[in-house]
Amino acid sequence: MLNKLVVSVATAAILATGAVVGAIAADKGPSEITLGADGKKPAVFPHATHQASDIACGECHHGMAADGAQTAYTDGMTIQKCETCHNPEKLAGKTKGANKLDTLKGAGHGNCQECHKAEIAKDATKGKLMKCATCHAKK
Ligand code: HEC
Ligand code: HEC
Ligand code: HEC
Ligand code: HEC
Repeated sequence: MLNKLVVSVATAAILATGAVVGAIAADKGPSEITLGADGKKPAVFPHATHQASDIACGECHHGMAADGAQTAYTDGMTIQKCETCHNPEKLAGKTKGANKLDTLKGAGHGNCQECHKAEIAKDATKGKLMKCATCHAKK
């Protein structure tokens, strides 16, 4: 009897944990985000619109290993703000192409502009995607 009770309590605990893990995996973040809100050129980012376009989370989100290397996005991982890593302490002097990865601007231009450029390459009528004002809308 007691054994059965212990088993059912344990089962309930596992189910509850499963529900919590499910809730974390489903956190899609805010639907609209302003990046660099305190800076000179805030960038407005329609997060939900991008998610609805079936762009994988891993196109934009990733992590960092203890040795400083980039790690790939995995479902349910803790998603941190870009600036948590893309700052002069964590990624000093790192660059990719023209983008300085130790700044939020470099991370933003590296990610946002690279994909928007690729979209224009597929469909020339989308030229607006590389206009400064498309992302840096007037306050
Ligand atoms: C096109 C790029 C892009 C895609 C696709 C994307 N995100 Fe994001 N997401 C961002 C950016 C940029 C931020 C803002 C990060 C910051 O504030 O530095 C963000 C923020 C978040 C945050 C809030 C993080 C925080 O601490 O403020 C969560 C949670 C999140 N995203 C989850 C997801 C999930 C889950 C998916 C896939 C279903 C997804 N995102 C798809 C770019 C993207
Ligand atoms: C947990 C730390 C961490 C967070 C958070 C993070 N990055 Fe990164 N990112 C890295 C690391 C590490 C690299 C690889 C740097 C190197 O060694 O070249 C990288 C590389 C990049 C690159 C260049 C390589 C590539 O994949 O194209 C871009 C662009 C980039 N990140 C954009 C972003 C954006 C945008 C966000 C927020 C949505 C973000 N990162 C959040 C750690 C992070
Ligand atoms: C992996 C690809 C990808 C990435 C990364 C990406 N975008 Fe986009 N973005 C798109 C696509 C696709 C559209 C929709 C284009 C269309 O069909 O009109 C879009 C549209 C937009 C629009 C709306 C343009 C309009 O129609 O008014 C804004 C604003 C925007 N993106 C900002 C950003 C910002 C800021 C970032 C980085 C934080 C970013 N995007 C990263 C693919 C991307
Ligand atoms: C596809 C989106 C996108 C486009 C297009 C874009 N930017 Fe950005 N830009 C960003 C993001 C995201 C950031 C990082 C967040 C921030 O600082 O506003 C940024 C940051 C910046 C910063 C740094 C602001 C600061 O406070 O440090 C400058 C300057 C800048 N962009 C200039 C431009 C100019 C000039 C153009 C047009 C030639 C342009 N950007 C086009 C997304 C974009």
